[in-house]
Amino acid sequence: MPRKIIIDTDPGIDDAVALLLALASPEELEVLGIVTVAGNLPLALTERNARRVCELAGRADIAVYAGCARPLLRPLATAAAIHGDTLGERLGLPEPAMPPQARHGVDFIIEVLRGAEPGSVTLCALGPLTDIAMALVKAPDIAARIGELVMLGGAAFEIGNVTPAAEFNIHVDPHAAAIVLGSGAPITMIPLDVTHQVLSTPPRLAALRALSNHNGSAVAALLDSFEAARTNRFGARGTALHDPCVIAYLLCPKLFRGRKVNVAVETASPLTLGMTVVDWWGVTDRVPNVDYMTEVEADRLYALLADRLVLLP
Ligand code: RIB
Ligand code: CA
Repeated sequence: MPRKIIIDTDPGIDDAVALLLALASPEELEVLGIVTVAGNLPLALTERNARRVCELAGRADIAVYAGCARPLLRPLATAAAIHGDTLGERLGLPEPAMPPQARHGVDFIIEVLRGAEPGSVTLCALGPLTDIAMALVKAPDIAARIGELVMLGGAAFEIGNVTPAAEFNIHVDPHAAAIVLGSGAPITMIPLDVTHQVLSTPPRLAALRALSNHNGSAVAALLDSFEAARTNRFGARGTALHDPCVIAYLLCPKLFRGRKVNVAVETASPLTLGMTVVDWWGVTDRVPNVDYMTEVEADRLYALLADRLVLLP
């Protein structure tokens, strides 16, 4: 029985690869819908990119919803310099023909969770947590109905990637992260401590380039552009493949290892805003609220990615 999931995302190059991995795995994952959020790019672009990726995967049947257009309190700060203004140009994708859904993405999340068997739906958060937080504020009862929230975000043993202290998704909307972390929902966090081990090294990229299908070569092209756009902080070792780690965790959790700890988030300090404060050694009396991943078998993750992408058109 495939696992029912809702993906909340800000595509975004690595988000696009994560969406393709999910859509390539219908036996394990039933994508109930995709909700887009402002983050890497403004909402109008993330929403359009999500529909483009669904069509690229041959899945124009997937319902794509627009979520929140800005963080709860902070002004929106995008990563357009890295992700470009649209995936279309990078991949030569046409304007999406499939229509966006009229319902707001936050309402979609609430309605699905309220209508489903408690614990039967997994939320996958690939961008800032604005939509998830808004759903929890509007409908606090859904916290107990979430089967698992698997989120890309945070950092502890790695430093931040958007400030020295903060990872991008948390930094864009730290207040949303605080609401989600305090909700009591079962949370699994995939932080930079994991994704910085999942670099698109030349051998790993070569294996993706060798894929004969259109989606395989599209992903290789996307990762090439991702690498070119960044300041190449990892040098020749490629760039960190963030969001696909969330989907890989759902497909093969044994590739990951971590610990249940308390994670809190800084929402006030100008110096460390968005920092995830991870009580790894249990030195506070704060209650563990997150399964925090720190280890991953990166080569096996790339092999899984290649094995699945080749199943797409
Ligand atoms: O810090 C990495 C995260 O921020 C990824 O989700 C990437 O897509 C950006 O949203
Ligand atoms: Ca993302």
